[in-house]
Amino acid sequence: MPSFREAILITGGAGFIGSHTVRRFVNNHPDKLIINLDKLTYAGNLENLRDIEGKENYLFIKGDIADTEVVEKIFREHPVTGVIHLAAESHVDRSITDPMAFIRTNVIGTVTLMNAARKAWGDNLSGKRFYQISTDEVYGSLGPEGRFTEETPYDPQSPYSASKASADHFVRAYGNTYGLPFVITNCSNNYGPYQFPEKLIPLTINNILHERPIPVYGQGENIRDWLYVEDHAQAIELVYFNGREGRTYNIGGDNEWKNIDLVKKLCDITDRLLGRPEGSSRRLITFVKDRAGHDLRYAIDASRIRRELGWQPRTSFDEGLTRTVRWYLDNTEWLEHVISGEYEKYYEKQYGRR
Ligand code: NAD
Ligand code: DAU
Repeated sequence: MPSFREAILITGGAGFIGSHTVRRFVNNHPDKLIINLDKLTYAGNLENLRDIEGKENYLFIKGDIADTEVVEKIFREHPVTGVIHLAAESHVDRSITDPMAFIRTNVIGTVTLMNAARKAWGDNLSGKRFYQISTDEVYGSLGPEGRFTEETPYDPQSPYSASKASADHFVRAYGNTYGLPFVITNCSNNYGPYQFPEKLIPLTINNILHERPIPVYGQGENIRDWLYVEDHAQAIELVYFNGREGRTYNIGGDNEWKNIDLVKKLCDITDRLLGRPEGSSRRLITFVKDRAGHDLRYAIDASRIRRELGWQPRTSFDEGLTRTVRWYLDNTEWLEHVISGEYEKYYEKQYGRR
């Protein structure tokens, strides 16, 4: 391997958003070593990165962010100047059944990473950066009006969002107490290729493909603000290089949809691409027991990142959804791999027998 003067440590790079981020950094920054540290939980999959695995500036390390030895070794052996921290337990429903896993990875893991960064960097903090990737869910749940700004007080409502909020507080506390140079972004719901089919959009596409019931929680009235994953990865690159130290940026698609309307739209796009008669998948929609403590609405005011860094989403919802559905239909082998094994057990526990 050639020697690099600078390395960027990306955590959780084998997951959904992480794999798009790693790919982007490896391709756009050949002068930097991109290290992907990932534990390969059920959500991590090296198949997501097949196209870049042979690149000279890419290094994968299998390991746990909460393991001090693993993390310190990376900082000892490589000239890490920045961390882009995406590794997390990320699914709200799983946080309701197993909150401890979320505390371990999302809170303890984040603090372990920052401790290792501090130990390696010491007082030499110029040109260093710890970038915490967070979520809009830390702000809580909105009623029908208003949007989350960077000034909205934290009010997390699920074990997942409480663990992310806790991690964000630690990052700001490390900035304040030890001078750790950090930046935080809070993004809305992402969608696109390589998303694990426990999340609404890929789960719906997978169930349509297999003609299984599509579970919609409650009455499907909850609202999310959807952003195409490549647009998020582009924002991450921009913030990593140009974001102001100690600053928070909200990222969102300005694209609010009620779950039921989104699911109907997905049914129609998938039917069209599969050549099934119009309306045939809508009959699969099944209203099921609501998620405990289900947040009603998220919506992001992304004016700061637009104004200060010139970012804006490029992908329209129709274009992004069509691209996403087409990707899942073209990659049934990937889908079959990730739904074999643990997925079936999870599905049965969450939704009952099909
Ligand atoms: P994901 O579940 O698809 O991927 C998470 C990755 O982290 C996996 O590859 C997994 O193997 C890895 N991982 C988990 N625990 C680990 C550990 N202890 N050590 C090392 N690696 C570990 O998640 P995602 O949807 O890509 O989300 C990535 C990040 O973005 C998370 O921090 C999440 O909170 C945040 N986020 C997600 C969304 C979204 O809509 N998906 C929106 C805003 C923010
Ligand atoms: O807002 C950002 C967050 O978006 C991220 O921080 C999380 O990591 C990510 O998982 C996502 O959280 P949500 O809970 O909003 O995403 P999910 O895809 O699980 O659910 C989207 C909406 O669809 C939500 O209102 C719950 C509903 N839903 C979900 C599933 C899995 C259903 O109605 N049926 C389902 O089977």
